[in-house]
Amino acid sequence: MAAITTRSLIKEYPGGVRGVDEMDVTIEDGEFFALLGPSGCGKTTLLRTIAGLEKSTSGTITIGDRDVTDLEPGQRHVAMVFQDYALFPHMSIADNISYPLKIQKVGRKERHAQASSVSEKLSLGGLLERRPGQLSGGQQQRVALARAVSSRPEVFLFDEPLSNLDARLRLEARTFLKKLQLDLGVTTVFVTHDQAEALALADRIAIMKAGRLQQLGTPREVFQRPANTFVASFVGSTSMNLIEGVVVSGAVDIGRHRLPLPPAAAGRVAEGQKVTWGGRPEYLSLVPAGQGEFSGTVTVAENLGPRCSSPWSSPREPWCRPSWGRTSSPRSAPQPASRSSRAGPCCSTPTACGSATRCGSVGC
Ligand SMILES: Nc1ncnc2c1ncn2[C@@H]1O[C@H](COP(=O)(O)OP(=O)(O)OP(=O)(O)O)[C@@H](O)[C@H]1O
Ligand SMILES: [Mg+2]
Repeated sequence: MAAITTRSLIKEYPGGVRGVDEMDVTIEDGEFFALLGPSGCGKTTLLRTIAGLEKSTSGTITIGDRDVTDLEPGQRHVAMVFQDYALFPHMSIADNISYPLKIQKVGRKERHAQASSVSEKLSLGGLLERRPGQLSGGQQQRVALARAVSSRPEVFLFDEPLSNLDARLRLEARTFLKKLQLDLGVTTVFVTHDQAEALALADRIAIMKAGRLQQLGTPREVFQRPANTFVASFVGSTSMNLIEGVVVSGAVDIGRHRLPLPPAAAGRVAEGQKVTWGGRPEYLSLVPAGQGEFSGTVTVAENLGPRCSSPWSSPREPWCRPSWGRTSSPRSAPQPASRSSRAGPCCSTPTACGSATRCGSVGC
């Protein structure tokens, strides 16, 4: 196990595109760390640069107490799982899993014992003699993980390993992945562009845009206290309403209406200051006309299973009341629960919460 640190890391491709631009991050020993951002923001580039598959243009990378900036990939003690699994089609599953040990010149008997033990943990026991083409996508994904585990790395690097799976398998796989990482305690960097996945799995999340770090924090921090409007609009399963206004007499004046300031903003904004008011749809509730704090027109209602999201639009009927929750900020929402699988505003603790229970209100 080992911490990973990048200092002023830059990866510039020919033509001047910076896949990674001045990246300073420290990923703690044993941490589950997610890299999150839109397509092309540099997630894969950062991962490949840490793995040594891309040579950095400048800056340093340390893993544990070793400066690995100029080391070959094989000397970095990392295992990477790619989006397409990259299994060897002509090899059996047993040979695929034990391949890293073969490279490390581990003897045949020990290799097979290790492959067998890892495959049992990943429910692949009966499949060892098959070829990758004879397995389902989910099984192939587990083989790729088993191969990574069998190499006994100090660091796991996962580049969207769940993206080829269907929605149901993906949910199962992510629970499995989290458990595996907790069991092994290996420092893990997990790339995804799916913010729900990052919120659910990660101890901390780095949000990137155009090669640059936008915010680094726990799922709760990036959800509740986004550092800028990019993070505010990127994180959250429904898009946040962002409205420009001016602080007037303890409210945000947006022209025809005044929106309430959340309690946490008190003392942090000055009279006449221009601000962006952010409201997550899931924290606005509809109330009878005249009883809310402001009015507007619901333009879209999305059925989200247990919940319904209604982004608020122009300031007309019906009346709305924002629920600020226990802790809140000008662009934030009630905090999600801590010891559970996080999914943005809600947490999934099957025994504690009913499917329609909102954590912001009951604090499960
Ligand atoms: N070999 C390359 N040569 C030139 N530019 C590249 C190369 N590989 C990536 N890029 C550019 O670097 C930037 C970051 O790409 P990268 O693949 O790291 O993005 P990403 O965040 O992983 O995106 P996605 O979510 O689509 O996988 C993009 O602008 C991309 O076009
Ligand atoms: Mg990528």
